[in-house]
Amino acid sequence: LYRTAASPKSSSFILLGPSGAGKTALFSLLESTSSRIAKAARPTHTSQTSTVATITLPPTIPIASNRYRSVNDPSLSEASRNPVKYELKDTPGHGKLRGSQGLSYLETSLNSKKEKERTRGVIFVVDAAALSEGGENLRDAAGYLHDILLLLQKNALNKGSRSFSKVGDPVSVLVAANKQDLFTALPPGSVRNKLETEIDRIRKSRKRGLMDASVGSGINEDEDEVLGGDDGHGIFSFNLLEEVGIKVDVVGGAVKAEGDTDPRAGVRKWEEWIGMCL
Ligand code: GTP
Ligand code: MG
Repeated sequence: LYRTAASPKSSSFILLGPSGAGKTALFSLLESTSSRIAKAARPTHTSQTSTVATITLPPTIPIASNRYRSVNDPSLSEASRNPVKYELKDTPGHGKLRGSQGLSYLETSLNSKKEKERTRGVIFVVDAAALSEGGENLRDAAGYLHDILLLLQKNALNKGSRSFSKVGDPVSVLVAANKQDLFTALPPGSVRNKLETEIDRIRKSRKRGLMDASVGSGINEDEDEVLGGDDGHGIFSFNLLEEVGIKVDVVGGAVKAEGDTDPRAGVRKWEEWIGMCL
């Protein structure tokens, strides 16, 4: 049996998203269940700094580079002995810390010369029970996601125009619609629609701001690109970004899966998404 040499592919993921969405809760759950010596998941509180941990993917989660592994496959026991690991970074979601931590870290990692250091996937966590129409939470979440996607789009377009530089692997984005255990939580399809509609509003108003010379918005001064292209005329949808290689998936889950024997049961679909990136 041939073995392919260990590829230098990156396996780092970053947790982004508004404050209170459940990033640290997810991070602690994955971290505490990754080591043999069970550590108690720490109680969460608003984060002010970023943290990194190495997470072990459960052997039953398929990975893209090994897509056809089946449950009866003898290599599965091999997988349990030599589990797939990835790096996960938790960041603070507070509005004042996003620029200096979440966004700037993402930007630095995307520009890294070493493939290994580049972010492989963005996990944008939202509280699906807090995204009511026209509310501040929806505006806040959509604004943050807009800025992240614009950064990824700029990066993808830059890479394409610099013909000498190899286009890196595209960055995948998971919108983790968290807190599905709450009956007030919106299903993932609805979270997707709400975010797309709100992002559409944001990109139209920012475009208007750009064309009006009297509006010196500061942070957007050098922004000449509109998210999703087409100068913001059509309706925005995440699918528009696939043209530049950015795939956005919206998947529901719950960090708190009460009564389940497997503490990771509520986040399994997100781990499957991670596996598909690896
Ligand atoms: P910042 O650090 O401020 O950016 O927030 P965060 O995204 O790290 O949020 P955190 O993980 O601290 O979670 C905020 C609150 O949501 C905590 O009280 C968690 O216990 C709670 N929470 C997280 N996930 C879930 C979930 O799936 N269901 C429910 N019901 N509550 C959750
Ligand atoms: Mg936190």
